Amino acid sequence: MNMLERAKQLQDEFVAFRRDFHQHPELGFEEERTSGIVAQYLESLGIEVTRVAKTGVVGLLRGGKPGRTVALRADMDALSIPQQNDVPYKSIHPGKMHACGHDGHTAILMGVAKLLSEIKDEIPGNVKFFFQPAEEGPGGALPMVEAGVMENPHVDGVMGLHVGVNLPTGQIGLKAGPSSAGTDSIKIVLTGKGGHGAHPHNSIDTIVAAGHLIVAMQTIVSREIDPLGSAVVTLGTINGGYRNNVIAHQVELTGTVRTLDPEVRAAMPERIERIIKGVCETFRCTYEFVYDKGYPSVINDPAMVDLAEKAAQRLLGADNVVRIANPSMGGEDFAYFAEKAPGVFLRLGAGNPEKDCVYPGHHPCFNFDEDAIPIGMAVLAEATLDFLKQ
Ligand code: NI
Repeated sequence: MNMLERAKQLQDEFVAFRRDFHQHPELGFEEERTSGIVAQYLESLGIEVTRVAKTGVVGLLRGGKPGRTVALRADMDALSIPQQNDVPYKSIHPGKMHACGHDGHTAILMGVAKLLSEIKDEIPGNVKFFFQPAEEGPGGALPMVEAGVMENPHVDGVMGLHVGVNLPTGQIGLKAGPSSAGTDSIKIVLTGKGGHGAHPHNSIDTIVAAGHLIVAMQTIVSREIDPLGSAVVTLGTINGGYRNNVIAHQVELTGTVRTLDPEVRAAMPERIERIIKGVCETFRCTYEFVYDKGYPSVINDPAMVDLAEKAAQRLLGADNVVRIANPSMGGEDFAYFAEKAPGVFLRLGAGNPEKDCVYPGHHPCFNFDEDAIPIGMAVLAEATLDFLKQ
């Protein structure tokens, strides 16, 4: 029997896990119930379990033969979004929802553990299962890496996936090189001198300075970044002022900076600060600037992409394995694992208009087609075996 046929036989069991997680969503670093179920399940399969990074779970399956080590990663956290779609397994926690499919990722990885533990005597090497907290923030991957999960035994390759409704169920999407953005956040505080709106000459107006700053910052992407490269500078909030006839002494702006190329990313703090500095000099303000580095860009290793592609083609047929042209400007902290070992992050098609699985991730009506669960299980298990046997 091939891996996909076996995964389909097991589908109901892992759909049930997924629905249970969906009904009981937990936010980042609060995944007590979810991680407890995961740990217990892995132990029932005879997998060695350790707990790391508060609610993270690492399973170690030692194959029957010596060899290298692959790590497979799922994220477990939900979002603080009130669920709006009606499903029999709707969230019972008000204001919390699995709106990004991490419930599915967790169930799929449990399924992979089941598939591989059934044939563990034949496996040349080890498989590590990473169930990480807090992908949606503040980030569970980095604390897991810092806890040493990529060592003992050393991880030689890492794989993960994300469900997506923009690909139909039955398909897998792949992309070599950058596949998600580096996601940084910025905070800018401009300080001037308040005063009466009728006497601007006695004041230093931070509202006017902020106006110029907002416009000038648009030139970073339009004039400083290679048009064939990519970056996003979005200012999401602006706050300042008291009332219509008072000059604001302070304005605070916050935003997000997204990049794909590590070199472009490294130059962003200087670019932004240079413009802030110039505007402040022009308009007599002072400033405070905070640049917080978030997740790095996921860089998929070309050899790992080829390996996963072949495994997926074998199970699904060549027509159902597609190369994705463009990276996403979203963030994904799988990047931290892929910095330590060659990695591949797959897109698992789970869109199905007939089942209303059409809303994008983070939408309050998000849902994905559960028929993708056995596909994700089988592709990850098959690619793992290919990696260890090569
Ligand atoms: Ni997600």
